[in-house]
Amino acid sequence: MNQAIITAVSGYVPEEILSNQDLEKMMETNDEWITSRTGIKERRVMPEGQAVTHIGIQTVKDILAKSNTDPASIDLVICATCTGDYSLPDCANSICYQSGLSKAFGFDVNAACSGFVFSLHTAAQFIKTGAYKKIIVIGAEKLTSFMNYEDRTTSIIFGDGGGGVLLEAAEMEGYGVIDAELAGDGSGKDMLRIDAGGSLNPLTPENIGERRHYVSQDGKKIFKRAVSGMSTSMSAVMKRNGLVNDDLAWVVPHQANLRIISSVANQLDFPMDRVMVNIEKYGNTSAGTIPLCLWEYESQLKKGDNVMLTAFGGGFTWGSLYLKWAY
Ligand code: COA
Repeated sequence: MNQAIITAVSGYVPEEILSNQDLEKMMETNDEWITSRTGIKERRVMPEGQAVTHIGIQTVKDILAKSNTDPASIDLVICATCTGDYSLPDCANSICYQSGLSKAFGFDVNAACSGFVFSLHTAAQFIKTGAYKKIIVIGAEKLTSFMNYEDRTTSIIFGDGGGGVLLEAAEMEGYGVIDAELAGDGSGKDMLRIDAGGSLNPLTPENIGERRHYVSQDGKKIFKRAVSGMSTSMSAVMKRNGLVNDDLAWVVPHQANLRIISSVANQLDFPMDRVMVNIEKYGNTSAGTIPLCLWEYESQLKKGDNVMLTAFGGGFTWGSLYLKWAY
């Protein structure tokens, strides 16, 4: 059976910064509250006319250039997003077309903030079975289109950005995606959602007036579930693979909130200096956070490093994925 190894990483964030100080001018909040509750200092905002597909195209182009890969050799693009450009069509096929991936097809995955982990695990199955050889997995969001800046507990958290990886078939025993534990609990559906704008509640002047087309959440309940979801799935994968903390070079957690990340590390007794964190710069970019972390920490990753990705998101969805870095 083939191994599914990551051979290139890329990330993309728009230039415009929305800092805590900017938010102070927009709502009753302050830098100290936001920093102490979330660890976030600033987030990025995509300009009008650009959205998830734009992030995906930049990611694909950079991955192809970095890895010197022929665009026609890419078989598939999976785009994890819950803020796609349109409800219909998806982003992945537009990304393929606009990036010149002449032989690829694509599809989007909506598992909210767990989307990248779910998509990477899916892509690895296609490669391990021999169905495909080269897959680009993207996690990207334009969350600022769905922020209600009158809701100060939610809008301070989220930002725009994302990235992706090239996953390739290789004969490298023991390397690449090794195992994952994915989970869901639909009873959490009301705790983190965009209520209006889908097929159940199409947009109307009334629900727009009530601001139901924006993200709303029950922050306290999510916080607890996120800590338990990430730590239990990570423990399960570690146990199944005979791993102890010292075996892991890096944990790459979804950047939901610095306190969630440190609570997970604390529960597992895992040292924070081997946990990737960049939430202070980008906030929570949902499916985008894990590729953004891999991109920023790429130079610190070494061949043979055991890496654990872990995420939690709306749905609820959660999971952890264990891989051995291959370059
Ligand atoms: N600035 C200043 N004060 C704020 C504020 C802001 N931006 N937002 C809320 N407050 C106030 C509240 O009004 C409340 O005031 P009160 O005590 O006078 O009523 C107080 O701060 C505490 O609010 P609360 O909602 O209880 O805060 P919290 O400690 O639960 O923190 C979150 C809120 C959202 C930061 C926290 O619950 C969280 O991070 N949850 C997880 C969210 C998440 O990660 N979502 C994505 C999952 S993938």
